[in-house]
Amino acid sequence: MTSSTPRRIRKAVFPVAGLGTRFLPATKTVPKEMLPIVDRPLIQYAVDEAIAAGCDTLVFVTNRYKHAVADYFDKAYELEQKLEKAGKQQQLDLIRNVLPEGVRAVFVTQAEALGLGHAVLCAKPVVGDEPFAVLLPDDLIWSRGEGALKQMADHAHATGSSAVAVQDVPRAQTASYGIVATEAFDGQAGRIHQIVEKPRPEVAPSTLAVVGRYVLSPRIFDLLETTPRGAGGEIQLTDAIAALLDEQRVDAFRFRGTRFDCGTHIGLIEATIRFALDNETLSDAAQHLMRSALDEMGVVES
Ligand code: G1P
Repeated sequence: MTSSTPRRIRKAVFPVAGLGTRFLPATKTVPKEMLPIVDRPLIQYAVDEAIAAGCDTLVFVTNRYKHAVADYFDKAYELEQKLEKAGKQQQLDLIRNVLPEGVRAVFVTQAEALGLGHAVLCAKPVVGDEPFAVLLPDDLIWSRGEGALKQMADHAHATGSSAVAVQDVPRAQTASYGIVATEAFDGQAGRIHQIVEKPRPEVAPSTLAVVGRYVLSPRIFDLLETTPRGAGGEIQLTDAIAALLDEQRVDAFRFRGTRFDCGTHIGLIEATIRFALDNETLSDAAQHLMRSALDEMGVVES
């Protein structure tokens, strides 16, 4: 890729091999990416965001126990036939649109749980030598206008840089995130000169935290191949990005939208509330039951 003619991203990688232990016992049989927000599983929101950003090849990095994700994106012949016979066109469209025509899903197995960087490296044979996206489905991003990845893809395309989504977090929370330090930040983007995985608040170089959306140069794969185990004994994507900074421009990108950390109980609840309130059919009822629940529990004085 030359910087004068950067290619648009077409491939998106979804690392979905995690065990989801925070949501046990639910995740004993249901992968955390299949937990629903209203009527769609988390993975569907991330997939829709990638497709809206122009991706037509979706690479799921799974482990050998996670059949549910592959089943979900597979064609459900029997169910489709039944719905067709019963004339249930609306429901039929819903399941057909899980993966729109022209978009293909590829499944890659991560044999060992060696970390996010390792999961991304597993996608190398499918992605090859072109810029690509990584989306962590735990991070659900709600936005009224363009999706977060589309905003980032446009920025990366216009500037020829890689891009990492960021948002401000309280200093006390830096140890839960990759943290970046940037050169002149123009309010939306700034070139990263330092990135560290999960620094303690006392040593964090800033409070600008990495959110699970990346547009990356394929050079990252070579760097991941030699990235030693880092924080938590895992091969960290953050460490490979740190190495990339020495060679290429990587921008921190503050997207427009609200991010919910659906890797936590409260984040999942928050997202459910927000999506219910934003849903035309559910909004009134959701508001009503929230108010009455708070009243009944004596949380709000009436
Ligand atoms: C991963 C990344 C971290 C990033 C976070 C965003 O961490 O390693 O840099 O800030 O996702 O959600 P994880 O939350 O998987 O531990």
